[in-house]
Amino acid sequence: MKSTARPSLLDLLRKHNHRYLAGPELARQLGLSRTAVWKRIKRLQQRGYTIDVRPRKGYRLVRSPDLVLAEEVQRQLGTRRLAKTFHYFAQTTSTNDEAMRLAVQGAPDGTVVCAEYQSAGRGRLNREWVAPAQDALTFSIILRPRVEPRQGPQVTLAVALAIARVLREDYRLPAAIKWPNDILISGRKVVGILTELQAEQDRVKFLVVGIGINVNQEEQDFRGSFRYPPTSLKMESGRRIARVELLCRVLAAIESYLERMLATGFAGLNRDLEDYCVVMGKEIELECLADRLVGRVIGFTSEGALRLLDREGTQRVVWAGDIVRVLTTPRENPATPG
Ligand code: BTN
Repeated sequence: MKSTARPSLLDLLRKHNHRYLAGPELARQLGLSRTAVWKRIKRLQQRGYTIDVRPRKGYRLVRSPDLVLAEEVQRQLGTRRLAKTFHYFAQTTSTNDEAMRLAVQGAPDGTVVCAEYQSAGRGRLNREWVAPAQDALTFSIILRPRVEPRQGPQVTLAVALAIARVLREDYRLPAAIKWPNDILISGRKVVGILTELQAEQDRVKFLVVGIGINVNQEEQDFRGSFRYPPTSLKMESGRRIARVELLCRVLAAIESYLERMLATGFAGLNRDLEDYCVVMGKEIELECLADRLVGRVIGFTSEGALRLLDREGTQRVVWAGDIVRVLTTPRENPATPG
């Protein structure tokens, strides 16, 4: 069957590659009146697109905004599953809240919720997650994998691995994972992940993986006290980073890590985790539930739990916790790019 779908106004302006397109020609191709075309041009300008308007010459797309709008993301996206359904918010309380709400209403696997600004962004352990509008990436992914509730942390780790790999390989930044859910560059926090889930006893109904990436913030944008001082990709690389491109790269990497994990089990990601882990081989102090543990990190189990050798020489396996201190550095982690 022949498709009768018309291109959008943006498609036509883009296809014309920064040259002018006459109003009547646009109107003809879109099947609209010239007044309707003008109204749509105004709407695009209000959304941040720079469009040059010249009498007798027509319209020319000068610049697209670096806003994480659905059409900008989906145009660059190379995923099969993730972000095919995409919700954009100029502002919301928390993308995790929005995603939880949508997931309960039945939103499909792979749905992405993205916001330019969160008024009540949250992190683990009831901490706040604050980022200025349009400088960070704050988004949540709804996932419906066939996994057990105890595998939730593995999904978080697979996501962390995917993001760290993009930062190392595509941006040449020495990103490393601070188990279980942070990414650091040179000891400073650049990414946080908050996974929430709804489950039955033996089956996850859905997970919401909320991701905050400090992208273009400056030093003065970070206020308050932090256990790990924050940084941004711009501060580390010395240049502004295009957020839509970064988001698309990250989503593609997440999709491929999750597919790998679901196909082979977490054991297949174990080597990557040991390679990317910032505390591998180091002695750490760990807070887990009511307990504090001290030990040297000797690796991970095939399920992504941390293996510690305590000072008495006993091996401990830790499923969840918060690294509060790195005590010694017997061997440096090779957290260098490439
Ligand atoms: C942490 O470091 O403790 C996790 C931070 C997670 C922040 C992200 S930003 C997008 C999503 N929405 C939220 O409210 N939190 C997560």
